Parts: sequence; C-alpha cells; structure tokens
Amino acid sequence: MKQRSLGSTSRSVSAIGLGTWQLGADWGDVDEDQALAVLDASAEAGVTLFDTADVYGDGRSESIIGRFLAARPGHGVTVATKMGRRAAQEPENYTPENFRVWTDRSRTNLGVDSLDLVQLHCPPTAVIEADATYDALDGLVADGAVAAYGVSVETAAQALAAIARPNVTNIQIIVNPFRLKPLDEVLPAAQAAGVAIFARVPLASGLLSGRYTERTTFAADDHRSYNRNGEAFDRGETFSGVDFETGLAAARRLAAALPDEVSLPVATLAWIASRPGVTSVIPGARTPEQARANADAGRLLDEETDLSGFSRAVHEVYDDLLRADIHPHW
Ligand SMILES: NC(=O)c1ccc[n+]([C@@H]2O[C@H](COP(=O)([O-])OP(=O)(O)OC[C@H]3O[C@@H](n4cnc5c(N)ncnc54)[C@H](OP(=O)(O)O)[C@@H]3O)[C@@H](O)[C@H]2O)c1
Repeated sequence: MKQRSLGSTSRSVSAIGLGTWQLGADWGDVDEDQALAVLDASAEAGVTLFDTADVYGDGRSESIIGRFLAARPGHGVTVATKMGRRAAQEPENYTPENFRVWTDRSRTNLGVDSLDLVQLHCPPTAVIEADATYDALDGLVADGAVAAYGVSVETAAQALAAIARPNVTNIQIIVNPFRLKPLDEVLPAAQAAGVAIFARVPLASGLLSGRYTERTTFAADDHRSYNRNGEAFDRGETFSGVDFETGLAAARRLAAALPDEVSLPVATLAWIASRPGVTSVIPGARTPEQARANADAGRLLDEETDLSGFSRAVHEVYDDLLRADIHPHW
C-alpha cells in the first residue's frame, strides 16, 4: 500500500484509508465485534489512516477505535478525528474553551494523550475565514492536546480559504466521480501549499459500489433514508448530493467502462487516489469484506493499472448527467 506524506508533518498515511462513520451510527446497525473486525481487516491490508469524529454515534466510533489502538501496540495507524458538531454550528461556539473540551473528550474516547489530527467538522464559512479560529487551533498544538489540525469542508471555496492558512495540515472534502469541482482549483492549490487532501464520500455513500438498483431501500435510521433532501445535514453528504436515480444511471455508465477484472468501487477508489494532490481516500466500510475490497484499490496503484478509459468515462458522465447540478453548488 502506497504511503504518502501527511502535509508537512513527519507522518505518512496510506493512499487508501478508512472512514468510520459507519462504526458510530447513521448507517443501520453495525455491532461492536463487526466494527473491530473492520478496523482489523483494514490495518492488516496496509491501511494506516482511520477517519472518525466525536459525533459519530456520540463517541462510539472513537471509543471503538480506542479499543483497537489499546489492543494493538505498534499499530502504526494515524487517527484523524473531527470536532465542532456537538454544539450548534454558530460562529460563537467555535471558542478556545469549546475546542479544549471537545479535544479532551476525544482524547479520552481514543485513549491517547495527544490527538494525531483534529479536523473542524464542516464549520460555517465565517469560522473558516476567521483568524481567531486558527489562533485557537495553534493553541491546541502548543499545549500538546493535538499534534496537527485540518478542516473538513463542504465547498471548493471553503477549501481554498483554509488552504491559505499556514498551519493547516489537511483539508477533507468530497472528491469522487460525481464531484469533480475540487480537481479544478482545490487539488492544485493544496499540492502547491503542501496541504494534504482526504477525499471523503468516495463511493457517493455506496452509489458507486454498483450494487444498488431502483428497488434498493435503506433502514429508517440510515441517513440514506432520512437525509436525501438535506433534512438533517448538508444534502451533499448523502449520495454526494446526487439524486438517487441519476446516480444509478451514472454508476451504470461507469461500470461499462471498467478495466478487466476490476470492480466499480475498486476502480473508483484507485482513480480518486491517483488524482494529483489527493493524499488519501477514506471509504467507509460496514463489513470486513468491504474494508478488504477497498484496500485492494491500493494494489491498482502499486501495479499502475491503466485507468485512462475509466477516467474518460468519469468526465463524460459528469458532463452529461451531473455537472449542471453539482458544479455550481459544491
Ligand atoms: N462532514 C464530514 O467531514 C464527513 C461527511 C461524510 C463522511 N465523512 C467521512 O468520510 C468517510 C467516507 O464517506 P461515507 O462513509 O459517508 O461514504 P462512502 O465511503 O462513499 O460510502 C460508504 C458505503 O459504501 C458501501 N461500500 C463501501 N465499500 C464497499 C465495497 N467494497 N463494496 C460495496 N459497497 C461498499 C457501503 O454501503 P452499504 O452501507 O450499503 O453496505 C458503505 O456504507 C466516512 O466514513 C467518514 O469517515 C466525513
């Protein structure tokens, strides 16, 4: 598995990481044994980056990762967590005091003295643009509460604002075949500034697994049931903001352009990971089998599998079916 520098830190992270929202909540039931099996399967396959957040299952995802870390000394995994959604997303809540309370809770959940990386969890634009935000984050680093910080963002404009700040280690943003705008300016700007990019929602919440049909349904407590129109949080976080039927049509066209013997999710992850400027792709997995399959995308990178035909299809499908709705929005 290719390892890449985490911004200007001395750490490296795998080109294919693991998203662990599924191990918290909002994706139907994932029991604790299964959650630990997902972490084990990923680590055994060479994954060295776990992405989590203090709000995933109200700390459940972090606590399960904490159990993994404690049981596996020498694990070599970097844990990136997030903060900022335990209170209303109002600028006045992004204070040094709240940052301290939130990071202390994550340190306890994860069982670590210092967080490897904490990301602001899609804060309002005013917070991303305020000097005070970065002063407070620098304070956390100076105190040793966190080793590094980054910003998870919704839009390309927010990403560019955060990349301009000198001590930002990473930006987390949606990059996938249904979300190409970051390729225009965000990835080049990050690369020029030495800022790492984590590509989230790489499978468009599973639409790019190629498994779903018009008849697929999701559990009532799964955000793919309750946030399709942005009822609970930004609609861009569910199916990447693409309407389900359009997403199915787009996924079918991409599936027709796959290299031999490569599945749609694996080709998608390898394609994202090989965009210049992307540091790590962080697919979520609900089962160890999914985690292993996703890590296998690392093999395509090692073998330099030719993805040029798939890449052409990605751009054609985006232009035909998605650009008009997606590009102006995120
Ligand atoms: N605001 C933020 O900062 C933010 C927002 C969203 C996500 N994230 C992070 O990004 C990570 C990734 O995004 P995501 O989990 O939302 O979406 P995703 O990675 O695009 O999709 C995950 C879903 O894809 C399906 N899947 C995964 N691997 C598969 C495989 N090998 N074969 C078939 N299906 C597969 C599973 O669907 P089924 O459940 O149907 O099996 C899984 O639940 C999250 O876990 C989280 O860490 C951050």
